Amino acid sequence: MTDLLISPQLGQPGPPAGGSPVATRLDRAALRELAHHSREVLQAGQAETGALIASPAFTVYRYCWLRDGAFCAHALDRIGQSGQAVAFFRWVGRTLAGQEAKAESALTRFATGEKLSAADFLNTRFTLEGTEETGEEEWWNFQLDGYGTWLWAFGEHLRRAPNEKLREELRPAVELTVRYLSAFWRLPNYDCWEENVDDVHPATLAAIYGGLVAAVKLYPSNPVCLEGKKQANALRRFVRANGLLEGSLVKSLGREDVDASLLGAGVPYGLFPPRGKIMLKTLDRIAKELVAPDGGVYRYRKDVYFGGGEWLLLTAWLGWYYTQAGQREKALDCLHWVARQARPNGDMPEQVTNYLLAPEHRQPWEEKWGLSASPLLWSHAMYLVLYTNLFGEGRL
Ligand code: BGC
Repeated sequence: MTDLLISPQLGQPGPPAGGSPVATRLDRAALRELAHHSREVLQAGQAETGALIASPAFTVYRYCWLRDGAFCAHALDRIGQSGQAVAFFRWVGRTLAGQEAKAESALTRFATGEKLSAADFLNTRFTLEGTEETGEEEWWNFQLDGYGTWLWAFGEHLRRAPNEKLREELRPAVELTVRYLSAFWRLPNYDCWEENVDDVHPATLAAIYGGLVAAVKLYPSNPVCLEGKKQANALRRFVRANGLLEGSLVKSLGREDVDASLLGAGVPYGLFPPRGKIMLKTLDRIAKELVAPDGGVYRYRKDVYFGGGEWLLLTAWLGWYYTQAGQREKALDCLHWVARQARPNGDMPEQVTNYLLAPEHRQPWEEKWGLSASPLLWSHAMYLVLYTNLFGEGRL
């Protein structure tokens, strides 16, 4: 990975907690340089197998997550690096082929009424070779959203670059994923932050919805995908009936707080129309409750992970939403905020400590796992998504 000093505008320290927000804007050249660096980070972070590592410099993230990887592949598609995206989707295809027996066993046992344990479900992250991980940490593996996200990203890929051979090659992986999601979407599982395994999360359901809808668009007469579409509709009714509080989506069923990952329910997954009542109310809550004084976005109010900082990928995600809601200036603010958080060499961390929600929790995490992950490929990917939304897709 290059280690050049990109621009003197980057990597300036943020304001001290409680200090006044710094709202300087970078010039277009600096933004472009960061886009180029992001492309390099995504290139350097792709293994020969096609897997995209979550973060090369943070031991527990040296795996490929379906969720992170799918957003990275999507960003690559937007900047004309579709070959890299294809390599990722092929890696998913091979990885899921290796998981077929496990998935089939879970489906069969579940259908006969057996109660499954978390270890019976497919993992959320795999080694770069596509095998189940055997790291020292036990991971919070039962998460369904990444399975929806990769389907969504694959749909976006083929929409931009139709490729019959690839569509056919990935059909078994899509079918397996659709059957898996169709069977299990009602079950509680870890949210996209790998927490709260006993709850059902509307943001996870949104990703599943986006994936099931993408699959039936790709294979419109495929019976598995048609059944997936039925399940997607049932899922939407379910969220409408159970996932709202005063018309706005909640983090998990039965809770009252909001989570920034709910942005996905509008953009990109389209569980509800991005400019419809439900999403505008949800957006309003996120903007009021989860945006720090300097404009960065928290995951949720009670977050304590590494002290509960502002997340670059979520701030870019909010900007992405704003571009879809016709609020370009706000989207630009988000892009500039993300850009300002880059380190002097352009690397983007997972989160920053300008306004921690729970500062006392920072040190214990750092003692456990080291400094918070940087570069995080997903942060770079979301920067590119927002950047291309604002300035146009295509080769950088
Ligand atoms: C985040 C996940 C992410 C993973 C790898 C975790 O800390 O909560 O959303 O997929 O890191 O980046």
